[in-house]
Amino acid sequence: MFRYFTAGESHGPELTGIAEGIPAGLPLTEEFIEEHLVRRQQGYGRGGRMAFEKDRAEIRSGVRFGLTTGAPISLSMINRAYEKDDSNWPKVMAKDGERGDVERITLPRPGHADLVGVQKYGFDDIRPVIERSSARETAMRVACCSVARRFLQELGIRIGGHVIQIGSVGYGSWEEVRSAADTIAESSEGAENVWRTADKSDVRCLDGTLSEQMREEIKKRRKEGTSLGGIYEILVTGVPAGLGSYVHWDRKLDGLLAQAIMGTQAMKGIEIGLGFESGRRQGHDVHDEIAYADHHFTRKTNRLGGLEGGVTTGMPLIIRGVMKPIPTMIKPLKTADIDTKEELDTRYERSDVCALPRAVVVAESVIAPVIANAILEKFGGDSMDEIKDRYPSR
Ligand SMILES: Cc1cc2nc3c(=O)[nH]c(=O)nc-3n(C[C@H](O)[C@H](O)[C@H](O)COP(=O)(O)O)c2cc1C
Repeated sequence: MFRYFTAGESHGPELTGIAEGIPAGLPLTEEFIEEHLVRRQQGYGRGGRMAFEKDRAEIRSGVRFGLTTGAPISLSMINRAYEKDDSNWPKVMAKDGERGDVERITLPRPGHADLVGVQKYGFDDIRPVIERSSARETAMRVACCSVARRFLQELGIRIGGHVIQIGSVGYGSWEEVRSAADTIAESSEGAENVWRTADKSDVRCLDGTLSEQMREEIKKRRKEGTSLGGIYEILVTGVPAGLGSYVHWDRKLDGLLAQAIMGTQAMKGIEIGLGFESGRRQGHDVHDEIAYADHHFTRKTNRLGGLEGGVTTGMPLIIRGVMKPIPTMIKPLKTADIDTKEELDTRYERSDVCALPRAVVVAESVIAPVIANAILEKFGGDSMDEIKDRYPSR
């Protein structure tokens, strides 16, 4: 089975990842991983004057002559800012020696992991919490998950996300989103066409008018010194019927997708298909009628988002996630100093105003291992050839 680990701090020397459980014989390049890493860095709503080096993950093991060997794949992402001659980070993040004059951070930001991290580990400094809870970690997560994404691609499964709501601006109904996204996903590229189309907008929205309004909304909230979250949708096409389980609670595919999304920084909810809207509708406006065409069963609609009984129906998966507004904001909130217990204003650090367009790439990525594992469970083998032999042709 596929699993992955990430290690490293935001301002440490590097992020490290291990992606493990991918069969031998999968074509994998650093360029494939880099494409999604760079996408994760792009999007309207980034903090002002932020200049970024392109993230690049170096493959250090598990790949030979462009093909996976079946061995664990280790990935390394060097932090160039740490390495610069005038960088203070080696001192702040030193693994040995004394603290010396390195400043302690004592003002926790509401909504971030700052205070709970200090309470959990007994630190007298928020720095180690920030270093690990920050979304910088998602760069390595995207890299590791891109390995699973490449595996799915080989089997014709494509994942693509788009933004449907930022703050108060968004589509009016489920049907409006369907007419914006579904025909795009029906192309030969499947859901890959969804992200490629959405990526043409810097807020990753498929609708031009809404994109403009979303940009205005972000601009307005930036001026006010606050932040924004929103809702995105991920489509997965080319998924065969029968992945997941209605028998075991812990193998129900919707449950596993929820874990992957909710395990991502700032995610506060997930819906499959109509999700919460299904609770407001009658049965006939929720359940998808079954039909038979071209030698396979299909559904006339896909309001349940490609899952019944925790098992894929063969229709595209439709997954929605909600991201809360970013906790670091220009206009302060009240907080209490962890040393003095004095009530003070939070201090502003460089931060995004709305990271949702970037978070879509993270969400696309984290669901790839879930689907890859459901496939490995059903059609698993040690090599791609073995898996392809067992995999159903559609
Ligand atoms: C792609 C992405 C970018 C983020 N950027 C920021 C940021 O610039 N500033 C910030 O305070 N939080 C940012 N966050 C959110 C925090 O990482 C998150 O709120 C924090 O780790 C607390 O975890 P929780 O929100 O899951 O409770 C970002 C999250 C994601 C997914």
